[in-house]
Amino acid sequence: MKEKLQEIREKALSQITAAENLDTLNDIRVNILGKKGELTAILKSMKDVSPEDRPKVGQLVNDTRTVIEGKLTEAKKNFEKAALEKRLSFEKIDVTLPAKKNKLGHAHPNTSVLEEVEKIFVGMGYEVVEGPEIEKDYYNFEALNIPANHPAKDEQDTFYITPEILLRTQTSSVQAHEMEKGNLPIRMIAPGRVYRSDEVDATHSPSFHQIEGMVIDKNVTFADLKGTLETFAKELFGEDTKVKFRPHHFPFTEPSAEVDVSCFKCHGKGCRFCKGEGWIEILGCGMIHPNVLRMSGIDPEEYVGFAFGVGLERITLLKYEIDDMRLLYENDDRFLSQF
Ligand code: DAH
Repeated sequence: MKEKLQEIREKALSQITAAENLDTLNDIRVNILGKKGELTAILKSMKDVSPEDRPKVGQLVNDTRTVIEGKLTEAKKNFEKAALEKRLSFEKIDVTLPAKKNKLGHAHPNTSVLEEVEKIFVGMGYEVVEGPEIEKDYYNFEALNIPANHPAKDEQDTFYITPEILLRTQTSSVQAHEMEKGNLPIRMIAPGRVYRSDEVDATHSPSFHQIEGMVIDKNVTFADLKGTLETFAKELFGEDTKVKFRPHHFPFTEPSAEVDVSCFKCHGKGCRFCKGEGWIEILGCGMIHPNVLRMSGIDPEEYVGFAFGVGLERITLLKYEIDDMRLLYENDDRFLSQF
């Protein structure tokens, strides 16, 4: 019996040492310690052992079982440890790898320039207001003293929705809306989108932006208009910018003018940017025509005003020295990310 136990023990230990994986270990456990295992068989045959030898033999069987179980557990642990290490080596995360950069968006150049313009006028006490893009013919033309036969009213130039409703062609349409509110005096700028039936090219688009400005108060003069626009031009384009007022005609202002700024690229010498002129046109303006005031219920004997209209794209292109307006609309990230 003793030899048999010794034999089982040695066989078990050498099998465990030779085992290659957890399955083999399990087979060994079943073959030796399982219900029909060799050691279990010996336990079953204890009844044949004489009562006085039984404790000794029992002790021996238990010792053998403990040794084999200990060895099995140890081998199992080793296998599990090796398996874990292998898995971890596969799943290893390289924390030094640079993370993928998230691209952050930023303001469109038009937006940045508009914000700058708003800041300049808010600083001079102006309110920023908005008007509708889908507009009545009345506000876009009639209330601005534009006669029914004016070429701008042609279908070639204006997008009509019905004969009376259109897509506004100018932010000047906001003027009468603000006057009708009756809150005088008025100091406002009205930025927004306008529409014209134009083909797309480097300087035209069927949809672009303007910023309208309007002041109505008692004793407003052309000198106030000049001072205001000069301040605006210097703040936007630089302190050494010169401003020139050229007589012009708009139906809604009298007198009217166009404003040029000295070319900030060549400082007036003449270059490709200003087409050799030394000056660049940036806006139209004038003293509000008495008819316009009267139509919106303001007495031109009591109140006077001035107005101006700036093309937002035009000043954005100038400020950033961009030579094709289409770039502002294509939303090509390679272009936009430069600003
Ligand atoms: N609305 C004019 C345009 O689209 C620009 C303009 C000129 C606006 C003179 C004004 C102004 O307020 O006084 O060409």
